[in-house]
Amino acid sequence: MIARNGEVRIAPSPSGVATIAVEALLAVARTRAGAAVALSGGSTPKAMYDHLRKLPEARDLVASVHYFFGDERSVPNDHADSNVRLAQEGFLRELAVPADHIHAPNGGASDLAAEAARLTAELRRLVPSGTVPVLDLVYLGMGTDGHTASLFPGTAALASETAGFVANDVPQLGTRRLTLTYPVLNAARWLMILCTGANKAEVLREIFSRAEGAPAVYPIERLSAERITWVLDTDAAALLPSHIPVKVAS
Ligand code: 6PG
Repeated sequence: MIARNGEVRIAPSPSGVATIAVEALLAVARTRAGAAVALSGGSTPKAMYDHLRKLPEARDLVASVHYFFGDERSVPNDHADSNVRLAQEGFLRELAVPADHIHAPNGGASDLAAEAARLTAELRRLVPSGTVPVLDLVYLGMGTDGHTASLFPGTAALASETAGFVANDVPQLGTRRLTLTYPVLNAARWLMILCTGANKAEVLREIFSRAEGAPAVYPIERLSAERITWVLDTDAAALLPSHIPVKVAS
């Protein structure tokens, strides 16, 4: 159960979750210039980006970070479903993050496997590493099926030993996606999992109720990095077992 080496923080609202996420980014940006961060996809990060955009005083810190993406849908970066577009419009443009600090997957590439290889090479070039690139901070979300990034249940990427990006067929969505793999996620210095909304409560209840030593059921349970922080709003945390230690933000 990954909660054992993780901490759980509960905020009263999605905006409170966003505040914690922004604080983490600024803290990491302060540790060293050129820190490497992977942004999450989905809709949850929007509140974080909205918050960041309102911090012009953090512009220099935010712009000092190199941004990767945990995953990207198989759409061009200007598509409404693109995780890159969400971040570009959310804060990267507004805070004038330099283009060479944005390492955007091209989900619209005709050969996603080649794009995954290109991204992996870019990651390895930029992020100091031995055999596996070590990211300073990775933001992740969680689907109601327990997927994270684009590591969906029953898909090939779950078994990938590639220390980078792969193109992953996701038959349950009838699509292919680019995703970071477990070797990179689990080598990260810090994983921050952002979950909001009542629709995540039942899966979180099941994950945090998992008996000691019981096998993982969901892809997200196979995360095992140096530091894992779950940041939940009260709706998502509503069914957490009472024995789980939590830190509640006001
Ligand atoms: C994606 C994400 C995915 C997302 C979860 C949660 O590209 O969809 O990377 O892993 O984080 O599906 O999505 P929501 O934030 O929309 O709940």
